[in-house]
Amino acid sequence: MPIPTVVANPFLAACRGEPVPYTPVWFMRQAGRALPEYRSLRGTGSILDAIRRPDLAAEITLQPVRRYGVDAAILFSDIVVPVAAVGFGVEIRAGVGPVVDRPFETSADLQRLRPLEPALDTPWITETVRILVKELRVPLIGFAGGPFTLASYLVEGRPSRDHLKTKSLMYTDTPLWLALVDRLADLAVASLRDQIEAGAQAVQIFDSWAGALSPADYQRYVLPAATRIFEGIADLEVPRIHFGVGTGQLLSLMTSAGAEVIGVDWRVPLDHARQLAPKARALQGNLDPAVCLAPWEVVSAQAQAVLRSRPTTVGHIFNLGHGVLPTTDPGTLTRLVELIHAETSTR
Ligand code: CP3
Repeated sequence: MPIPTVVANPFLAACRGEPVPYTPVWFMRQAGRALPEYRSLRGTGSILDAIRRPDLAAEITLQPVRRYGVDAAILFSDIVVPVAAVGFGVEIRAGVGPVVDRPFETSADLQRLRPLEPALDTPWITETVRILVKELRVPLIGFAGGPFTLASYLVEGRPSRDHLKTKSLMYTDTPLWLALVDRLADLAVASLRDQIEAGAQAVQIFDSWAGALSPADYQRYVLPAATRIFEGIADLEVPRIHFGVGTGQLLSLMTSAGAEVIGVDWRVPLDHARQLAPKARALQGNLDPAVCLAPWEVVSAQAQAVLRSRPTTVGHIFNLGHGVLPTTDPGTLTRLVELIHAETSTR
């Protein structure tokens, strides 16, 4: 009888580019409105209030793990939680997204972004993570918002398509912009360190809207703050994932910020992404979430095309290219997890 070896968790192994028994799968926004059990548990109150209740937030985190059989859980929280917790004045409006009382405009507004003290400001996050690591048999992913995306919400005051106010601040008062993204990086580091110390085994930085920038502008206006985040948690030695939408032109720069894993959306085939980000230990993605609204035959064919587009089977975490859409049939996602596991199993 061969002596059984302790097999590393497939998700964590894939993040490190190590061999895996099958390709791990999880879905961005796997907790949320696509799940009937989420809708009934959440009710109609504010999402930020739900996040402040550890039992509720832990249960919502667990729902998709049970239902879909995914290989990782992601903490039920939101990227605006740290800025809300230091009193910046932000709510999440249903069907809209983050809305800010008084948008960020001048250097005086920097004072509204004091340092985060997790033990005082977000003790409920620490508690939720502690509950989850006891309950979960898969790793928990902690997260924070990336500098450009968070700055955009604070400057625009609400979701924006073109980020014009944000870019205007960036180009006209560059020192203030750089001070803003540095503050946001410090908030992210404090929150991520707390999540990791409480038991999160990997983290993802969601710089969802960074794709609005050219490589030169990303390098000058965002990369220093992004690097500050990745360096600020490097000593904790958990895999770090860096994600944005429409960031094909930025994959190499985003990897250089320090991530082990780079998130790729559906616009860039994985073999191409591999060439664009040779230093990343792993790629994560990249089925178009809109495909999951289609009949199963279409989902299956497109998911298998994603698998075929991989240059190698190691160093890949299957995911969507962006979050699960609220109208997705949960049954499709359950079948998708089964399909990816079956198609990639080496046992
Ligand atoms: O399952 C998970 O992925 C974990 C939870 C999670 C949420 N938000 C919960 C949530 C995560 C990782 C986020 C991150 C987040 N929040 C991002 C980055 C990811 C991305 O989608 O690009 C962004 C841009 C936000 C800001 C935000 N929060 C938006 C744009 C919205 C949608 C508003 C709406 O109603 O359409 C939210 C609200 C939100 N955050 C919901 C969930 C499950 C849905 C609304 C609700 O249930 O009240």
